[in-house]
Amino acid sequence: MLERTVTIVSQERDADSYFRLVLKAPDIAPLIQPGQFAHVRILPLKDALLRRPFSIFQVTGDTFSILYKTVGKGTEVLSRMRAGEELSVIAPLGHGFTVSKAGGEIPLLVAGGYGMAAMFLLAQRSPQKGIVFVGGRRRVDILCEKEFAAIGWEVRVATEDGSHGEKGLVTQPLLAEIQNSKFKIQNYKLFACGPTPMLKAVGKIAEDFNLPAELSMDEHMCCGTGVCLTCVIKVKSGDGWEYQRTCTEGPVFDARQIVWAVS
Ligand SMILES: Cc1cc2nc3c(=O)[nH]c(=O)nc-3n(C[C@H](O)[C@H](O)[C@H](O)COP(=O)(O)OP(=O)(O)OC[C@H]3O[C@@H](n4cnc5c(N)ncnc54)[C@H](O)[C@@H]3O)c2cc1C
Ligand code: FES
Repeated sequence: MLERTVTIVSQERDADSYFRLVLKAPDIAPLIQPGQFAHVRILPLKDALLRRPFSIFQVTGDTFSILYKTVGKGTEVLSRMRAGEELSVIAPLGHGFTVSKAGGEIPLLVAGGYGMAAMFLLAQRSPQKGIVFVGGRRRVDILCEKEFAAIGWEVRVATEDGSHGEKGLVTQPLLAEIQNSKFKIQNYKLFACGPTPMLKAVGKIAEDFNLPAELSMDEHMCCGTGVCLTCVIKVKSGDGWEYQRTCTEGPVFDARQIVWAVS
């Protein structure tokens, strides 16, 4: 984990309210593992003290990138920044995904919206290729479809409004794959990043079919480095449970360990 002032190499709109931001970070880039995140201080922002967490999307040479959606004042200000301007980042942070070994389990990646950002590095670094299930409300929420296909992954798309791929939730094609698989389903391992209801549904599918699953939990964060306890979730421990920090013990957790809030 390093704290650095880094320079923006490029910023491009991906689609609608999604942006790709490339940062020059020569000593951070080689340390990054799939599923880790960067905690970003947006220097031009009033109240810039509070950092924002973003999954690390891609790593190329001495740069890394994030893929983000504008949802509030921090991301709005970030989207107006240009090449040559500076940000402060602490990265890489958190406990990421386990990369599947060649000949090992077949990874099924499940992503909702900007959850795709956490998945690309995992797919790229996994010698064992699999299927990525991408979901979103509308067509514009389906990110990186071509990029996953270009690195040899099969991509299945679901949109809630039916404007692209299958109509419905992303867990539908996932469930269909597991139920109708030509492989032994015991060979599958699930990996997911997206909104909490989607993570919970993927965790339930994993439990029902007795499949291993790693879930990247999306909790609000303050310090990002394990000090403030803003980001804790309940995790099974012995006969009971304990709090663990999403920023340090996570964001990726074994689905079997998570104690879900009753909804
Ligand atoms: C580990 C981790 C990785 C993340 N990776 C990405 C990513 O790759 N791309 C991306 O676009 N976003 C990602 N996020 C969410 C991102 O951090 C928030 O969208 C961002 O902090 C919002 O900042 P803001 O100032 O624009 O919004 P604010 O003005 O602070 O809030 C605007 C709205 O966004 C909501 N919000 C704030 N933080 C979160 C959060 N953590 N999850 C869900 N909603 C939130 C608020 O409740 C509010 O409704 C990630 C979050 C975590 C915890
Ligand atoms: S965000 Fe402060 S402990 Fe996790």
